[in-house]
Amino acid sequence: MTWRDGCIRQHVPLANHTSFRIGGPAEFFAEPSSAEELVTILQRARRLGLPVSVVGGGTNTLAPDRGIRGLVVHLGRGFKSVADISQPDEPQALVQCGAALLTQRLVYLAAQHGWGELEVLAGLPGQLGGALTMNAQDIGRFVQDATIVSLDGAFRTLNREEMRFSYRYAALAPGIITNVTLAFPKIAPEAAQERIRQVLQYRNTTQEVRLPSAGCAFKNPPGVGAGRLIDQAGLKGARIGDAQVSQRHANFIVNLGQATCDDVLSLMEHVQRRVQGATGILLEPEVRMIGEQWTR
Ligand code: EPU
Repeated sequence: MTWRDGCIRQHVPLANHTSFRIGGPAEFFAEPSSAEELVTILQRARRLGLPVSVVGGGTNTLAPDRGIRGLVVHLGRGFKSVADISQPDEPQALVQCGAALLTQRLVYLAAQHGWGELEVLAGLPGQLGGALTMNAQDIGRFVQDATIVSLDGAFRTLNREEMRFSYRYAALAPGIITNVTLAFPKIAPEAAQERIRQVLQYRNTTQEVRLPSAGCAFKNPPGVGAGRLIDQAGLKGARIGDAQVSQRHANFIVNLGQATCDDVLSLMEHVQRRVQGATGILLEPEVRMIGEQWTR
C-alpha cells in the first residue's frame, strides 16, 4: 500500500527516533505540524484500517526489530510552542506548552525566567507529552490540564484530577497529547539556576548518560530502588548481545552498539528472574514497547 501526503514518509527506521537507537521501520511515519493536519492524518488512518502508534522523544521506548505496522505519529513543528500566560504580579507562572516541547527546553526557560521546582526535570530527555504519559519525575503535580486528540480526531481537555497521577502513571484516554498547561511558583532565576545545576550534577555522576539507553528500565518497587536490587543481585555488566546492564547505575540497560529489541527484552527477563530469585520481588518494566509488530 502507498499513502502519499506531504508529511507522510514510508519505512522510516525507528532506531533514529528512540533514545535506545533500536527499532525497525515504521510502515508509515507522519510528522504533522498542526492540529488540523494531525486530525486529517488520523481520520485517513482510520479509513484505511491502520493501527496508530505514537513516538515522541523516543525515551523510555522500545520499538520492535521488525518494525511497526501501520502509522507512527511524531508531532512536528507547531507542537513545540511555549508561553507564560500569567500576569507579572501573579505568584505562579502559568505556562502553555505544545506536547512536543523538549523537557530540556522547558528547564532552560525555567532557569531564565525563574520557574521554581522545575529542576526535577533537569537532565530528563524527551518531550513533554511523553513525560506526562508516564508521570516522569512526578511532573503531574505541575499539570493544570492536558488536551488529547482521540484516534478518531476528537479533542478533549482533561484536568489534573481526571488524570489521577501516581507513581509513573497517568489516566489518559487513548489518543495523542497535543497541549499541556503547567503551573510553577515564580522564584529568583539565580535560585532556579542553582537548583538545576545541582540536579544535573547528581544525574551526571550517578546515572548512565554516555551510552544510548531508555532511562530507568524498571519501576522502583514500593520503598526500594530497583537499581539497588539489581546491583545487589550482582547484575552490573550482565550482557545479552549488545544490551548490557550499566556498570554505573544498575537500573539502566545500555546499547553497546548493535543491540536489538530482542536483546533488551531477553536481558530484562534475565534481570527479573535473578532479582525475583534473590528477593521474591518481581520488577515491573518502566520501558514501554510501542506498536504492533510488523510481520510482512
Ligand atoms: N543504587 C545502587 N546501585 C545502583 C544504582 C542505585 O545501589 O546501581 C542505589 C543508590 O545508591 C541509591 C538508590 O539506589 O541509594 C537510589 O538510586 P538513585 O538516587 O539513582 O535513584 P533511583 O531510585 O534509582 C529514581 C528514578 C529516576 C530518577 C532518580 C532521581 C525510578 C525507577 N527511577 O531513580 O528516574 O532520575 O530517582 O530522581 O523511579 C527514569 O525514570 O528513567 C529515571 C532515571
